[in-house]
Amino acid sequence: AEDGYRLWLRYDKIENAALRSSYSNQLQYIKVYGQSPTLAAAQKELVMGLSGLTGNTPRESATTEQASLLLFTRFTQPAQLTGITTDYAALGQDGFCITTARIKEKKVTIITANTDIGVLYGTFHLLRLLQTQQPIQAVQVVSVPAIQHRILNHWDNLNRTIERGYAGFSIWNWHTLPDYIDQRYIDYARANASIGINGTVLTNVNANALVLTHDYLLKVKALADAFRPYGLKVYLTAKFSAPVEIGGLKTADPLDTSVQHWWQHKADEIYELIPDFGGFLVKANSEGQPGPQTYNRTHADGANMLADAVGTHGGIIMWRAFVYDVRVQKHDEDFDSNKTNKNLPDIAAADRFKQAYAEFTKLDGQFRKNVLVQVKNGPIDFQPREPFSPLFGAMPQTPLAMEFQLTMEYLGQGTHLVYQAPLFKEVLDADTYATGKGATIAKVIDGSLYHHSLSAIAGVSNIGSERNWTNHPFGQATWYAYGKLAWNPNANARDIAREWVQQTFTHQPQAVQTITDMMMASREAVVNYMTPLGLHHIMGASGHWGPGPWVNNAGRADWNSVYYHRADSFGLGFNRTATGSNALAQYKPEVQAQWKDSNTCDERYLLWFHHVSWQHHMHSGKTLWDELCTRYQQGVDTVRRMQASWNSLQTVIDPERFHQVQQLLSIQEKEARWWRNSCLLYFQTYSRMPLPAGVEPPD
Ligand code: GCU
Repeated sequence: AEDGYRLWLRYDKIENAALRSSYSNQLQYIKVYGQSPTLAAAQKELVMGLSGLTGNTPRESATTEQASLLLFTRFTQPAQLTGITTDYAALGQDGFCITTARIKEKKVTIITANTDIGVLYGTFHLLRLLQTQQPIQAVQVVSVPAIQHRILNHWDNLNRTIERGYAGFSIWNWHTLPDYIDQRYIDYARANASIGINGTVLTNVNANALVLTHDYLLKVKALADAFRPYGLKVYLTAKFSAPVEIGGLKTADPLDTSVQHWWQHKADEIYELIPDFGGFLVKANSEGQPGPQTYNRTHADGANMLADAVGTHGGIIMWRAFVYDVRVQKHDEDFDSNKTNKNLPDIAAADRFKQAYAEFTKLDGQFRKNVLVQVKNGPIDFQPREPFSPLFGAMPQTPLAMEFQLTMEYLGQGTHLVYQAPLFKEVLDADTYATGKGATIAKVIDGSLYHHSLSAIAGVSNIGSERNWTNHPFGQATWYAYGKLAWNPNANARDIAREWVQQTFTHQPQAVQTITDMMMASREAVVNYMTPLGLHHIMGASGHWGPGPWVNNAGRADWNSVYYHRADSFGLGFNRTATGSNALAQYKPEVQAQWKDSNTCDERYLLWFHHVSWQHHMHSGKTLWDELCTRYQQGVDTVRRMQASWNSLQTVIDPERFHQVQQLLSIQEKEARWWRNSCLLYFQTYSRMPLPAGVEPPD
């Protein structure tokens, strides 16, 4: 039965016999120059992949003369092959080159790189060419990642529950570690290596200091050892209060020398066990987590102390900018967007949107060289659509890491089909205008805009203990696409979808087209049936599942839906222009110009920045109310089209996954209707306008 466990690394026999034998003839005799666990992994993957795909087990070749597929690095390139020149300088640490050449009239295929891990990445690339049935007779690929650290963030707790995880429990079995190495760990590492992911933060940002105790570190070391051949570095979250909680100190003040020594010793202990330990990810002074501000120190003080501790060993600190605090709550009564903010003691406190920028831009230039500030893609929290965070481009002296969320906390969670590559692309391609036109977020993140050599990107993992890893078979596509875009932010979301479908489901061209179209439509669908036209954060309280535009007592003002949508008898939306919270002022003038006038504002962001009347004249000619209703309906309609498309594939897809996706789509359709009905009935109590033609009355 097809249970989805193999992800996109399915090496089933290619149907076309001619293609099979041409691949197998070309790649029959493998020779790997050099010895290492990584090269062994490459060879093993090739044997498994080629045997499966071609039906022919490749041989290990004893001599260079006999070899037809040669794997080597710059340092192991055989003397006979001096004629083959590779621009190694251009490949960097992780890049690779796949090429064909002739040795004494014999055609050979070569995978080469500066490092063993580069060779492994090239190996996966070659296998992907076969999996997607590309011609390889004259293959010529040079591929170099744009971003240095391409990381998954697991929000996994030590008791194996996962914060915002919808695919079962944590795949880290702390109970059986360190002595039991589950094959799943290896398959996890293979999957990540196949898409270029080279780091994993094992633990939740809402951290547990226990993972830093010696017994747990032994378990972490076992995972690091299992992952190392695949180039996957291990990182941990550091709880700022650890020196008090597990170190017996009275304080965790970052300027206290006993605290500094404690972290230094802790880092030494970790590096003794794990010499290539990646470093720490830290959530501090956010949502109740301890941090330097607890001791009247700054984020920079806290980050720098940890940076010094790991820096001597080559580690990095990823310090999160996801901060907002209770000051916001004090201004509950000022949420009426028609008021000005002149009475507020601290402008930043008036709108959660503005806090990260307010706190972090003033620290630019104060961080150590091995610190990155990790910023969520949007200013609030992983909504179906957000404008990009104004921090991007606003901290020229600090390398900024991107944080995306693969797990779909606010996008229907484990049961909705939402291919997120279009969301990621929308953010990466956005222009910050920080240095003039063309200062895209991709260039901020890859370090090129401000010439930082340190660069990183993070995806909050959607992986769990479900057989198919992500619960929804299409969740795998977002994991896959994240890796591909981390490697190359310029890649195209549709191309990535297509190659994922070919590897995961089918090669039948019509079916590939149908599934790719479904995936490409899915992100706009979720925006429409949940939060069209710039609505945001109107889901159920705390669980963030299902509609909850009425939520008004979630414990904090800025957890309430009414804080964000501000519906009243006049209209809808959050005024963030100069007459409101003025969050818009955090963007460059060119960006402000796109959004500041409610009549010309890109309507995808309208209600993010404007409180407009129910009668507001939309670009379609409709009123805001009618347009809103139409969008909610369109969201439902798109899901129904996805259902019809999927149903047309019954004969192409294996029965297990066909049935699974069919059931999930029916949940999605039901929940899309739930969203539409709830939101329209709720907002109608303010608009007092009838549903326009073409919008189904709530059932
Ligand atoms: C969201 C999410 C939390 C998470 C937080 C974070 O608020 O709901 O569960 O801890 O983001 O990113 O730190």
